[in-house]
Amino acid sequence: MFERPEVGERALLVHITLASEMEPENPDEFRELAESAGVTCAAVVTGTRNQPSSRFFLGKGKLEELRATLNAEGADVVLFNHQLSPSQERNLEAELKCRVLDRTGVILDIFAQRARTYEGKLQVELAQLEHMSTRLVRGWTHLERQKGGIGQRGPGETQLETDRRLLRSRINQINRRLEKVRRQREQARRSRKRAEIPVVSLVGYTNAGKSSLFNHLTDSTVFEADQLFATLDPTVRRVSVPDVGPVVLADTVGFIRHLPHTLVEAFRATLEETVEASLLLHIIDNTDPARDDTIQQVESVLGEIGAGEVPVLQVCNKIDLIPGAQPGVERDESGRPVRVWLSAHTGAGMEELRDAVAERLAEDVVHRYVKLSPADGWLRAQFYQSGAVVAERMSDSGEPVLELRMEARDWHQLLARAGTDENRLTCLDGSDWMAVEAV
Ligand code: GTP
Repeated sequence: MFERPEVGERALLVHITLASEMEPENPDEFRELAESAGVTCAAVVTGTRNQPSSRFFLGKGKLEELRATLNAEGADVVLFNHQLSPSQERNLEAELKCRVLDRTGVILDIFAQRARTYEGKLQVELAQLEHMSTRLVRGWTHLERQKGGIGQRGPGETQLETDRRLLRSRINQINRRLEKVRRQREQARRSRKRAEIPVVSLVGYTNAGKSSLFNHLTDSTVFEADQLFATLDPTVRRVSVPDVGPVVLADTVGFIRHLPHTLVEAFRATLEETVEASLLLHIIDNTDPARDDTIQQVESVLGEIGAGEVPVLQVCNKIDLIPGAQPGVERDESGRPVRVWLSAHTGAGMEELRDAVAERLAEDVVHRYVKLSPADGWLRAQFYQSGAVVAERMSDSGEPVLELRMEARDWHQLLARAGTDENRLTCLDGSDWMAVEAV
């Protein structure tokens, strides 16, 4: 048994290219990840191998190089740009007398720092505890002190980690709390759905500028802030979009290439806002040299969480850093806005974004004046239940006339359930509606 070394903030990065790897990790991106986690990169050790060794991941020679660099640079934590098995991590720590974290550990640490909601914090804690539970060995008792530093944020390492039974009970406790938060959120979502408020979700690769844009859109007068919507969740705001009405704007976690599976699972619930959104704003950092690759990564995560079919408006951000770049909107061949160029910093292009969002949302909203016959009582009740009725009037001959506004997909579903379609309804135009007596 050995004592697990304490963590530090001066990191040695290890990037090994494996011949067997289809999609090798990117060393520059890993450096950025490590810096996001708050460490200083003292040095990077690179190498190639056909396949990882089961004991140390790398070979004896590379291990010696690592030890030498570690001592020379005075680093106190080693970060591997790969997934390590629990035993590889332990063997490396015993050998190097220094804390070792793998890629998942680094990413979990970043998420622990960035989680803003109560639910998000619980989810990260759960993912960290689960990651940790496979790595528990006796002899780490000295880690009962709560310490800062990479890999120890979030739940930290307390007495709990020395005892699997206690760890399990903590995991169960978090699961119960999460269940409660999920129920509350589910309720909030249902009431939004009843009120037919469309959700616009901001998605994007980490650092693309989602939060900056979210703050700009909600704090400024771009969209009219809706004070009525009281929420403790800082990532969801209700705003008013011209010609569309109230809209829920939701910020989401930043995506990362090769997101560890435990995290995709953990964040599935948070990302439900994304799956059920009417429109996704995919924020893209235009200054990122790997821009096209990150766009693909985001699209593949969206597919993985079941949001592959949700309509997307791309938002190319940070144009203030590109000489000569102007704010503007790009349209597809049918004239639909598909890409907006802007800067969340200077605010250039915000009006264009607002108009493009309004245009894309209006596309999916059905606005009709429908005259019902007295026999259509069931249909009328359904329209009311789904929150689609804006106003009701009475025709001269005593039939109810409804002004309806709802999402196109719900409109078609409701009519299908009623065994009818739009051609069989009596739809009036706006001037006929004006002529009908208000009830
Ligand atoms: P995650 O929380 O990792 O998902 O990041 P995010 O997508 O929310 O990005 P965030 O808004 O935190 O911005 C990342 C960095 O980019 C910050 O340093 C911002 O100040 C910067 N940034 C965002 N938008 C702009 C922009 O339009 N121009 C410039 N120059 N910098 C920007």
